[in-house]
Amino acid sequence: MKIFKSKHKLQKEILNIKNISFVPTMGGLHKGHISLIKKSKSFKGKTLVSIFVNPKQFNEKKDFINYPRNLKKDLMILKRLNVDLIYLPNSKDVFSFQVKNKIFLDKFSKKLCGKSRRGHFKGVLNIVNRFLEIIKPKYIFLGIKDFQQSYLINIHILKRKINTKIIHCKTIREKNGIACSTRNNNLNRNQFKIASNVIKYLRNKKRLIKKELSNFKFLNIKKDLMNLGLTKIDYIELYNSKTLKRPKNKKEKFKIFIAFYLNKIRLIDNI
Ligand code: PAF
Repeated sequence: MKIFKSKHKLQKEILNIKNISFVPTMGGLHKGHISLIKKSKSFKGKTLVSIFVNPKQFNEKKDFINYPRNLKKDLMILKRLNVDLIYLPNSKDVFSFQVKNKIFLDKFSKKLCGKSRRGHFKGVLNIVNRFLEIIKPKYIFLGIKDFQQSYLINIHILKRKINTKIIHCKTIREKNGIACSTRNNNLNRNQFKIASNVIKYLRNKKRLIKKELSNFKFLNIKKDLMNLGLTKIDYIELYNSKTLKRPKNKKEKFKIFIAFYLNKIRLIDNI
């Protein structure tokens, strides 16, 4: 396992490697990341994992400060997984060069998380675009738990004709149903249970929602969820994940997209 803190040294190392599988992370590695890394290792070539808590994608400074970090544990996990290359840049290393490609921010960035997290997706695309220019990976591995993020990265890659293919990976869940997330580290036991009840509730309700698509807003779902112990619901919306339109007929496949708060901790999921 080789660790690089400087892009120049990393680029020198990977100059002659054609197929790099890239797993970008902000650390706080969990089963979801491990599954991305295992998937990436099942491809030919070398796996490169980055750890960088990107300040530009946090719309609140406090959230950036409180984001769970544990580099020592992360490096142990990566060593155990036998990852080939690790990139651990600081802000100067990634932000102090002129990019070739301008960010393409699709209008879907204004929906869902884009409504309440101003600048978030611009920040994500900024860093991912930079990583793609530094590393030029053949593949990038992203989890569909962050559906909107991977959708927007995909559009950026297509519009800017970047030679990297996204491998969308399924959401990995804890035994109690909640999606693995670094932010789960900040949940106490009671909040963990409430989050699990939210997912169970939504899974049960999905069939009823399908029947009552046009009355979705009136199903008292928000009220029920708040009664489970949520602090706030940022959004709960239905989208056909292929067309990104609201589902209209009962035969259409759709997902429930949700973002909610347990105290100050914001979690997202799609079911
Ligand atoms: O999903 C994440 O952890 C981050 O948004 C990413 C893709 C590493 C960019 O900072």
